[in-house]
Amino acid sequence: MTVNLKGRSLLTLKDYSKREILYLIDAARELKEHKAHGTLKKKLEGKNIALLFEKSSTRTRCAFVSAAVNEGAHTEYLGKNDIQLGGKETVEDTARVLGRMFDAIEFRGFKQETVDLLAEYSGVPVWNGLTDLYHPTQILADFMTVKEELSMLENVKFAYVGDGRNNVANSLMIGAAKIGMDFRVVSPVSLFPDKHLVKECEFYAQESEARITFTDSIEDGVKGCDVIYTDIWASMGEEDKIPDRINLLKPYKITMNMLKQTGKEDVIFLHCLPSFHNLKTGFAQKYPDICEVEDEVFESKFSRVFDQAENRLWTIEAVMVATLI
Ligand code: CP
Ligand code: NVA
Repeated sequence: MTVNLKGRSLLTLKDYSKREILYLIDAARELKEHKAHGTLKKKLEGKNIALLFEKSSTRTRCAFVSAAVNEGAHTEYLGKNDIQLGGKETVEDTARVLGRMFDAIEFRGFKQETVDLLAEYSGVPVWNGLTDLYHPTQILADFMTVKEELSMLENVKFAYVGDGRNNVANSLMIGAAKIGMDFRVVSPVSLFPDKHLVKECEFYAQESEARITFTDSIEDGVKGCDVIYTDIWASMGEEDKIPDRINLLKPYKITMNMLKQTGKEDVIFLHCLPSFHNLKTGFAQKYPDICEVEDEVFESKFSRVFDQAENRLWTIEAVMVATLI
């Protein structure tokens, strides 16, 4: 499949066609194989990459750094207190400066507008490492993991259970609509995705023949599903909403019984991570009901969460290579 993505940013999956998404997933699988066989070539030698993080990160940050090192590129981590962005300096000015010094910029933070402006003003590819609205690189890894497991993506029955309007749910819905999946958002009605985004996804679905449905019924939503996916109930920046979300989402916790309700013996469980599955972290101890998935499910034979986490690296590396050379 020949696809030319040189010079492109990845701000949201809305900007990418089905063909381009599939190309990136296949490229990631090739990189993973090359690494395993010791045949990976350093294709990004001499490239400098800025990593801007307003919010914390384990997987995304480490995936960008490891991907860059695999390809021979240099990264510079710029945390929220390291640079002037949005404080003493406008995003537009910072973008123009970084664009003169770096070949590409990754941004993780709050506003989607910030990553959009960085792309508009820097003149170099900008990659969205998560904003309040979207998390596009996550979905490439999720779909790569599904393809590794099921050998296909079209028509896969995929239920996202939980906070149906967060960045991960939004991006999964866009990706599923582009690819042509049977995608279900299973959540309380008050947490269904934004109507405008739904309309856009319904438009993509006309071309791909995707089915996008919304239900507050777990039984209806997970029936026949190949994949059950969840995320934490309150995203970064929403900590004040935790008690509310626990009340709303407690019935939507992923349990062994929910996996059984799919009727599929080989259903897989995915989670973008981090997760509160075993309530061992300090944060989870403060909110003992915050657990979005039973530890039994997380540690079960159905769980592919660590393959999914590893695939962040290969998909991010594929995006870097495809957009930089
Ligand atoms: N899934 C994900 O984006 O993880 P981090 O927040 O650790 O980057
Ligand atoms: N929805 C979560 C995803 C973390 C990877 C958040 O934004 O915190």
